[in-house]
Amino acid sequence: MQPLRCMLPVQRALHWGPWAPVSGLLLSPCRAHSRLHSTACPGPERPEDGVRKDFSSRLATGPTFQHFLRSASAAEEKPSFPAAEDPPPYLTADELRGRQRKVYLETYGCQMNVNDTEIAWSILQKSGYLRTSNVQEADVILLVTCSIREKAEQTIWNRLRQLRALKTKRLRSRGPLRIGILGCMAERLKEEILNREKMVDLLAGPDAYRDLPRLLAVTESGQQAANVLLSLDETYADVMPVQASPGATSAFVSIMRGCDNMCSYCIVPFTRGRERSRPVASILEEVRQLSGQGLKEVTLLGQNVNSFRDNSEIQFNNAVPTNLSRGFTTNYKTKQGGLRFAHLLDQVSRIDPEMRIRFTSPHPKDFPDEVLQLIRERDNICKQIHLPAQSGSSRVLEAMRRGYSREAYVELVHHIRESIPGVSLSSDFIAGFCGETEEDHLQTVSLLREVQYNIGFLFAYSMRQKTRAYHRLKDDVPEEVKLRRLEELITVFREEATKVNKSSVGRTELVLVEGLSKRSASDLCGRNDGNLKVIFPDVDMEDVASPGLRVRAQPGDYVLVKITSASSQTLKGHGLCRTTLKDSSAQR
Ligand code: 5AD
Ligand code: SF4
Repeated sequence: MQPLRCMLPVQRALHWGPWAPVSGLLLSPCRAHSRLHSTACPGPERPEDGVRKDFSSRLATGPTFQHFLRSASAAEEKPSFPAAEDPPPYLTADELRGRQRKVYLETYGCQMNVNDTEIAWSILQKSGYLRTSNVQEADVILLVTCSIREKAEQTIWNRLRQLRALKTKRLRSRGPLRIGILGCMAERLKEEILNREKMVDLLAGPDAYRDLPRLLAVTESGQQAANVLLSLDETYADVMPVQASPGATSAFVSIMRGCDNMCSYCIVPFTRGRERSRPVASILEEVRQLSGQGLKEVTLLGQNVNSFRDNSEIQFNNAVPTNLSRGFTTNYKTKQGGLRFAHLLDQVSRIDPEMRIRFTSPHPKDFPDEVLQLIRERDNICKQIHLPAQSGSSRVLEAMRRGYSREAYVELVHHIRESIPGVSLSSDFIAGFCGETEEDHLQTVSLLREVQYNIGFLFAYSMRQKTRAYHRLKDDVPEEVKLRRLEELITVFREEATKVNKSSVGRTELVLVEGLSKRSASDLCGRNDGNLKVIFPDVDMEDVASPGLRVRAQPGDYVLVKITSASSQTLKGHGLCRTTLKDSSAQR
């Protein structure tokens, strides 16, 4: 199979380009055909397809320039899929449909990828595909990938090696098995993946999921297909993700995509593109639907969730400058106007007072007082804030281009704790960034001790191509030093988290039950307001709504749990009564 040779110049122009790309079609001058067509470039003949010849001849006489112009204007109106209603000229409507083929989706990386998996599935389901949880019976295997660190990508390469065996062994009678790479790795490596792993049939970047039915149709003719265009406005606002597990108590709701911060170590702005927010109305609609389905918790998702800014409608306050946290700056020109995160949070939290609201992942710069006050006042907004610090050294923070010093960060922590008593804090840290000295590392250790986070995500630095650090800094901390520093950070984090969590012993926590504990079928497992796991025996208890009645708590119920012991990651206790979020807040 030939790699895709014909698409790079266009992509580069589009990557951070000033114009919104055509959604669903990548325009690419292909030398092989010397006319405009989609991302599919025919490779050498394969015996498996008689279809291919037919497809190639249609492609040769295929899409005209007019067709692409038509597609471009149609994309501006954002039609909802299935595209089968309007197939490109080189495909029939039937070829665009899934025809009951079974798709196996595997997710790697962050919560954004979990949500993206459901978006991709929603699009494929509408197109007539079926989903399977058994990789052996799949006709299409799609990996939703992550590029944040080298290790994340290595996992995918290893997985591809296993899948190669599956593809080779596949019986001819079952038809070919198609394998696709979705998400950040497709975006970062582009045709390099197709060169390295010839068995990969399809690439779709994070903004190209609407194009999946067409890309899969193209692979049916034995060609590789790719769309790695980044968009300035794709938010999948009209694609309601299909929630994977029907019995789930909580769901993710994507509210914005991309990142404009350009922290010097981070690949995300290059794989997920510019910041853009989903219109408030469509977010509220999705949360209403989830509440109607009985879900009890939503987590608003975005790479910079609290930088949310819906500019889709003209607002009276369009010239209002953005309030940042005190002592924080941005790497970009300050933006103005639009509906901000506080507005959205206010609206979302009013939908269902019994529904817990969380959000992740925020940037510390976007915590103005109105957001903090709202979290404090609203009972169903969890008093839990993720505040990624990355380092405790102002020198390293500057090299990372985080836009704050250690002092400003610590002041923000104090301000948050004063504004929201009892708030639970979590953070991300990177060990061994370029130029980090032992003294810098000790500053991070001391920040962990000073703040005493409840939850921590700690990583060894992994240099990523394209980033500012890659171009301007030296990855000069030896691997073994990075790992030793990481170990030290983990140890200190655990010590401090254990201390904080132990202070909960004797307290009563409101727990949203998720189900049986994985370790013991006689225990229930849920999460407290701070998002810590709480384990307690599954026994009859009082029901506040019906005094005298004894009940067994079910997934989705709120239970007051008296905490009896704590570790760095879990609380244990016993259930006092089943209650509601409203009742328990009234008692506080
Ligand atoms: N190396 C290590 N960790 C990284 N992160 C982001 N980029 C890198 C990198 N190149 C971490 C940051 C971020 C989290 C999602 O991943 O801590 O907050
Ligand atoms: Fe990466 Fe920084 Fe953007 Fe987070 S804020 S996604 S760390 S560039």
